[in-house]
Amino acid sequence: MADAVQTPQIETGKFTPRVFSGIQPSGGLTLGNYLGAIKRFVEMQESGIETVYCIVDLHAITVWQDPDKLRHATRELCAGYIAAGLDPQKSILFNQSQVSAHAELGWVFSCVARIGWLNRMTQFKDKAGKNRENASVGLFSYPTLMAADILLYHATHVPVGEDQKQHLELTRDVAAKFNHDFKTDFFPLPEPVIEGVATRVMSLRDGSKKMSKSDPSDMSRINMTDDADTIAKKIRKAKTDPDALPSEAEGLKERPEAKNLVSIYASLADMSVNQVLAEVGGKQFSAFKPMLSELAVAKLSPISAEMDRLMQTPDEIDKILRNGADKARAIASPILDKTLEIVGMVR
Ligand code: TYM
Repeated sequence: MADAVQTPQIETGKFTPRVFSGIQPSGGLTLGNYLGAIKRFVEMQESGIETVYCIVDLHAITVWQDPDKLRHATRELCAGYIAAGLDPQKSILFNQSQVSAHAELGWVFSCVARIGWLNRMTQFKDKAGKNRENASVGLFSYPTLMAADILLYHATHVPVGEDQKQHLELTRDVAAKFNHDFKTDFFPLPEPVIEGVATRVMSLRDGSKKMSKSDPSDMSRINMTDDADTIAKKIRKAKTDPDALPSEAEGLKERPEAKNLVSIYASLADMSVNQVLAEVGGKQFSAFKPMLSELAVAKLSPISAEMDRLMQTPDEIDKILRNGADKARAIASPILDKTLEIVGMVR
């Protein structure tokens, strides 16, 4: 288990350091998205590196989205970014479909990536399930668009949760193959930044499953829009085991549910797991769960209140996204142009 949260070490190579990451506006934000991704986004923004954060609406439509709900979820995600501490003056915040270069580079990369590579993607297997023949083509080729998102900005660092690791490896493979095929060093090989104590927040009902917005049970996750009573109820009902908490991380090894709740506490409190256990070791869950609820409500309520406030003025959100898209386009266009020139398109 990872220990204390550290500010990521960014090294400069041939490419100027630039951070890119994205979240799908497919349903609401979960605590997993917040701890595994957005909290890291904010830390990276504050470290002074150029940061580009996208709302990947083109990715969201790889599975059916009701158009009105998609628009709402896109604005709500933008509100979530800002409420959690992303500042449109410091980071570029935009939605993917406003920068058409994503789709264009995505096409080029779908001609670089191999079917065999995509066949190995575990997330496609999970999402398509048994009904693979009926999945959209976009769901299958999804990682090539993700590679385009990242490489379109020559991003060097990509903060994500653990579930995106394989997609990041594919992004590096696409960059390496493109560079090799066209005898160039045009694209960087971006580094995944998977750090902190909550890179894989698990379901509250089953410690072997990831906390996910698509889980049919709402009790399995904490949503960023849940009120204090709902958060407390979900934590109270969270699955645990009968033992007291150990006083060192080692003691959580075979206890996935206990490990998950302690990791959530550690991440929310900006502590290491061992620091938390030094304080709560020996306590029963009946004593620890109220502490966790109190902390979660204290950290999440101001964010959800701010999200509510921002959602009162959707026009303002749309303006922020349009401005962000203008800034994103200014970086992306020359990179797309150069890519097409390298490939041999007449310009
Ligand atoms: P998405 O929308 O599923 O999740 C957004 C981010 O949240 C993280 N995350 C979690 N972290 C810890 N524990 C969890 N239970 C948990 N659930 C989600 C994810 O790892 C992710 O960082 N393919 C991406 C979106 C994407 C993207 C990109 C990301 C598209 N283009 C370019 C980075 C760079 C996805 O579906 O994330």
